[in-house]
Amino acid sequence: MAYRVGLVGVTGYTGMELTRILLGHPDLRLTQVTSRKEAGQPLQKIYPFLQGTELGELEITVPDSAFLAANCDLVFLAVPHGTAMEMAAELRDKGARVVDLSADFRLRDREVYESWYGVTHTRAGLLPEAVYGLPELYADRIAQASLVANPGCYPTSSILALYPALQAGLISAEDLVIDSKSGTSGAGRKAGVGTLFCEVSDTFRAYNLTKHRHTPEIEQELGLAAGRDIRLSFNTHLLPINRGILTTAYAKLAPGAGADEIRACYERFYAGKRWVRLLPAGTLPETRWVRGTNFCDIGLITDPRTDRLIVVSAIDNLCRGASGQAVANANIMLGLGEDVGLPRAALMP
Ligand SMILES: NC(=O)c1ccc[n+]([C@@H]2O[C@H](COP(=O)([O-])OP(=O)(O)OC[C@H]3O[C@@H](n4cnc5c(N)ncnc54)[C@H](OP(=O)(O)O)[C@@H]3O)[C@@H](O)[C@H]2O)c1
Repeated sequence: MAYRVGLVGVTGYTGMELTRILLGHPDLRLTQVTSRKEAGQPLQKIYPFLQGTELGELEITVPDSAFLAANCDLVFLAVPHGTAMEMAAELRDKGARVVDLSADFRLRDREVYESWYGVTHTRAGLLPEAVYGLPELYADRIAQASLVANPGCYPTSSILALYPALQAGLISAEDLVIDSKSGTSGAGRKAGVGTLFCEVSDTFRAYNLTKHRHTPEIEQELGLAAGRDIRLSFNTHLLPINRGILTTAYAKLAPGAGADEIRACYERFYAGKRWVRLLPAGTLPETRWVRGTNFCDIGLITDPRTDRLIVVSAIDNLCRGASGQAVANANIMLGLGEDVGLPRAALMP
């Protein structure tokens, strides 16, 4: 018997991607979808790719936490930060499991959340219960959780890139620099001049330098890896592509740390973790090889001339960085295999 699943925010990019993935999922059945603007429409009216499928006639409704909790085993919240916290609390109080794709429950410290996001956390009492949904780090806790905070897209690529070396003490926790580039779907589907075709295509620019909101999330998790507080430089760029994140992280090597030891450390850390692919020496990740999949590809370069480790990681921001990871978390919460229903073949070309 399939689990009944709800999706709040079906018209956004992550909602669209969740719909694509859930259409092929054998054990999760999408039974409730919401949008305030498109309520009353059948799903195929806004997503013609659903014509002729079992989801085509599903009617979009307005979000109603009590109704969703009564009719769903698990609900995905694919809504902006600040709007998820109340819904998550109501759904959870009424017995539904929740995977929140927003940032509302990712930061363990309420003050850090409020200072970076500029909103009051009205449900901070739930923060200790919420589990950070990065399966490579927290699968056991996710399996017991009723509220999972799905990681941000940039943090997923950054944390997976540096965690093993930091935890093993093979790099310094000082002066880390993370340089990330994302496709435009990372900004969401709402209209804005900055994401118009003519503003994004045929150019490449940095944005939000030194103040991107994903900075404290990366510092939080990498601080846990290092066993101490971390301050790092995290800087972001907008690529003229639809989906994909390429992250390049730079770290000072610990005295004596060499290429072989570092590679062995990453191989050990990611052994049995099928959604992280450590690429062979000499091969570097590209966004196209992970497009539409749940993979994070990692390439390692040790530079003895500058005493640096350079880690390059690639993910699809909508799949591994949001909806694919959300489905992996739902699978784990419901006792299904983590991999069930997740796309493995990259979208070509
Ligand atoms: N885009 C990415 O690559 C990415 C990656 C990781 C995480 N995320 C996070 O995932 C969440 C969704 O992102 P997105 O890119 O899909 O956003 P989006 O394209 O802007 O879509 C937002 C969705 O939420 C609904 N919504 C907005 N305000 C709402 C409210 N007050 N109550 C109920 N529904 C509301 C919208 O529909 P209506 O307005 O019609 O209700 C829409 O369906 C965000 O928190 C984002 O930070 C995004």
